[in-house]
Amino acid sequence: MLMKQAAAHLAHLTGLEEEEVLKLLEIPPQPELGDAAFPCFVLAKSRKKAPAAIAAEIAGELKTADFTAVAAGPYVNIQFNREKWSSELLEWVGQPSFGKLNIGNDARVLIDMSSPNIAKPFGIGHLRSTVIGAALYRLYSETGYVPVSVNHLGDWGTQFGKQIAAYKRWGNDEALQAEPIRTSLELYVRFHDEAENDPTLETEAREWFRKLEQGDEEARRLWTFFVEVSMKEFDRMYERLNVQFDHTLGESFYNDKMGAVVEDLKTKGLLEESDGALVVRLEEENMPPCLIIKKDGTTIYPTRDLATAVYRHDVMKADKLLYVVGGEQKLHFKQVFAVLSRMGYEWAANCEHIPFGLMRFEGRKMSTRRGKVVFLQEVLDEAVARALQIIEEKNPHLDNAQDVAEAVGVGAIVFGDLRNNRLNDVDFSLESAVSFEGETGPYVQYTYARINSVLAKVKDANNDSENGEVTNSNDTEFNDVAGRAATVGDASWTLLKLLADYPQYLEKAVGRNEPSVIAKYAIDLAQAFNRFYHAERIADAPAEVRPFRVNLTKCTAERIVRSLYLLGVRAPERM
Ligand code: ARG
Repeated sequence: MLMKQAAAHLAHLTGLEEEEVLKLLEIPPQPELGDAAFPCFVLAKSRKKAPAAIAAEIAGELKTADFTAVAAGPYVNIQFNREKWSSELLEWVGQPSFGKLNIGNDARVLIDMSSPNIAKPFGIGHLRSTVIGAALYRLYSETGYVPVSVNHLGDWGTQFGKQIAAYKRWGNDEALQAEPIRTSLELYVRFHDEAENDPTLETEAREWFRKLEQGDEEARRLWTFFVEVSMKEFDRMYERLNVQFDHTLGESFYNDKMGAVVEDLKTKGLLEESDGALVVRLEEENMPPCLIIKKDGTTIYPTRDLATAVYRHDVMKADKLLYVVGGEQKLHFKQVFAVLSRMGYEWAANCEHIPFGLMRFEGRKMSTRRGKVVFLQEVLDEAVARALQIIEEKNPHLDNAQDVAEAVGVGAIVFGDLRNNRLNDVDFSLESAVSFEGETGPYVQYTYARINSVLAKVKDANNDSENGEVTNSNDTEFNDVAGRAATVGDASWTLLKLLADYPQYLEKAVGRNEPSVIAKYAIDLAQAFNRFYHAERIADAPAEVRPFRVNLTKCTAERIVRSLYLLGVRAPERM
């Protein structure tokens, strides 16, 4: 908002477009130099003068009630008039509507997220998809879109034939009920181990999958059983992560919808035979062919995704289709989108793969085949245990310590994931993620708890003053939003500017599908608050600046809560 004001004045003085000025404006490297710097090089040609001379001219003309400006070489350094702006900004930042944008015009954004595979562990990749997807969901709804989330469960495919075959040989209902994923995984691993020496296993598996596809009653019953027990375990995880879905529609949902797509491909002359299989050639797009029907006549992952996309566009009325899936599936989505566009669907251009990098936990990767996996529940439990330990040291009298530890431990994992640019590979260290210092979720949460204790002191002080002392009354303090900003220190000014910049961060986060923008903002905000807290008195500040600082503190609290909310991280009142 301030930058826009400055840009408007500069545009007027220079004849440049306001947009262009905004792009040129820089933040000076040291805050003492001012709030903004305008480089004059672009004007040298038209004004036929050296940039430094131009800077001097502009600085002379720019002195208004709003700013002061001085030339520093080729730059015009601009200082906003803090006395004037601080109350205005604080009032703006404190409004209930602050930070809600309407850039989406109610467009429906379908977010394919989480999408774990039945009878397999919920992997780290699924965790990333879940937390990134959930954050995008909130970012979109905060900015005027209508997001729709879908959990596209991997509940179909030849592996279910293997699963049933293994279960028929070695399965045990009790174990499966008690620990569905672990037991399914053991069956799966055993299948692969024994299939190496026993080829009849593979034959049995194929036979079971064929039966399943044909609706055989026993195959169907076993499959349903696997889906149910797996879902129970996934749901426990979703509950801990506080993630909900608008729809849970697994791949199997599209079984009866693929035929139409295959027919359509045929009619449009796109299907070609290759080694007994049917493919769509994508030579023009410089991609390998997209497999549609396997040699044995069964459909495959891309076929299901084609039917899925058509359904999402036609039936679910999605304007934009996002797929939050690991970067290793890049080619798959490029092929699917290319086939859609070959089919003549213009909306293929509105399909977007939102990839993310690999994550390792303390160097451990997940690998389903060999069964050496990191179980997410265990990672969450460990994070919560560590959080509890720290909380017990810091605040042994906290009454709901267990609940706070859950919020901090789970939040640490979620935040620790989301603070990275999503495309980066991450080597996750539990110890640093749960630390209360550094760029972590707990650090931000802890700052929020600190703010609450400052505000509690303010309340106490106000109550005391009602019993005699003469200071501001409670009412004026809480109703006069901006308060008077007699002297605005560097730390409060920096904090206030950061609060006012929030809408820009929000816009950037949603524009790039990048929740890390908000995570980094939350860290910056917490750091700026802590600097302010150490530099300036708040609850016991002199009466003329106290309302301003108290309100600044409250607005910071709101912004931290909102940022954490967008990321899917809880903000406990105390820690
Ligand atoms: N279940 C798949 C996997 O774990 C991810 C599915 C992603 N969504 C999709 N529409 N293909 O690899």
